[in-house]
Amino acid sequence: MIKYIGSKRRFVAQIGAMFSQMGAASALDLFTGTTRVAQELKRRGANVCAVDTARYSEILAQCYIACDAADVDRRDLAAAMDHLQALEGDDGYFTETYCRRARYFQPSNGRKIDAIRDALDSAFSESALYPILLTSLIEAADRVDSTTGVQMAYLKNWAPRSYKTLELRVPGLLPGNGVAMRADAAHVGRLLPHVDFAYLDPPYNQHSYFSNYHIWETLVAWDRPAHYGVACKRLDCKEPSTRSVFNSKRQVKTALQGVITELQADIVVLSYNDEAWMDLDELVALCAVRGEVEVLSIEAKRYVGAQIGIHNPMGVKVGSVTHLRNLEYMIVSGEVADVKRVAQTAGAPAGCRA
Ligand SMILES: C[S@@+](CC[C@H](N)C(=O)[O-])C[C@H]1O[C@@H](n2cnc3c(N)ncnc32)[C@H](O)[C@@H]1O
Repeated sequence: MIKYIGSKRRFVAQIGAMFSQMGAASALDLFTGTTRVAQELKRRGANVCAVDTARYSEILAQCYIACDAADVDRRDLAAAMDHLQALEGDDGYFTETYCRRARYFQPSNGRKIDAIRDALDSAFSESALYPILLTSLIEAADRVDSTTGVQMAYLKNWAPRSYKTLELRVPGLLPGNGVAMRADAAHVGRLLPHVDFAYLDPPYNQHSYFSNYHIWETLVAWDRPAHYGVACKRLDCKEPSTRSVFNSKRQVKTALQGVITELQADIVVLSYNDEAWMDLDELVALCAVRGEVEVLSIEAKRYVGAQIGIHNPMGVKVGSVTHLRNLEYMIVSGEVADVKRVAQTAGAPAGCRA
């Protein structure tokens, strides 16, 4: 799975346990990112709808959520992977932009990425394997990048992993049905069908995922965009249309209120933390429109940038970090009986409940 800021790697088991405890069958992961929560719910038998605005999230969701592992011809997949892995490298946009002008990847790996991505368009664009192969490429590139996990900057000195050779691996496909959707949560919430269990994990601050993961956007769009700055970000990172209302301090409360009010779901679980713009009282008040509210709070390590310090785009340390831990909230709302059942079995000790 790719490195992703705000990813809920440490909480998937708890979220999955909440879903199972409800005896739920359908689920929504509205800000799905890496799709790891949606994957956990699918593993537990859910028919999941995974939604995000990011192009790469849609591809990951097509691979892990919409695709039924039982429908995939393993021999075709293995042959396609072997073919792509064996391609000669090709010096293209990716190598020039992200390996020479910027230094996110070693040129030898950049050339492989160029060749494989071109081949995906020329030979596999109509194939059901396309999202699986593109997911494999994104994940392979992530394993050899030279960043701290966001693409606002690359490391001053090459990361040790960047010296490894890019290697495609077969993604861990899951059996079952699901839906992958690229859509804006602020608009799509009220249009989605009823689900038993909805999980909401919006951005918590002004940092745009579109900018933070601009290389994955480009690798999926394959549109060779004009770029700017040392980080070679896509020019459209500057466009208001690529910014999310959930990244706007002025708009986030109304947007979140709209989503929480309009969703058709028995249980809504909202993730947030104590460093975000809205405080816990405001969040609880928003969720109270759905009935009973319980808050689980878990102390957690802050994101990787906080662990290693603040650096400028050239990798030079420019500031200090004040604290290394924060509180992650999961705010559960719905009918009293459901909320009590879900909150008590979420794996959090009773003392963690606010
Ligand atoms: C905190 S991350 C979610 C992480 C995810 N739960 C995981 O474990 O990987 C927030 C996600 O919201 C997405 N996002 C931002 N604005 C959005 C919007 N208006 N509609 C849908 N998704 C949005 C971002 O692309 C990002 O993937």
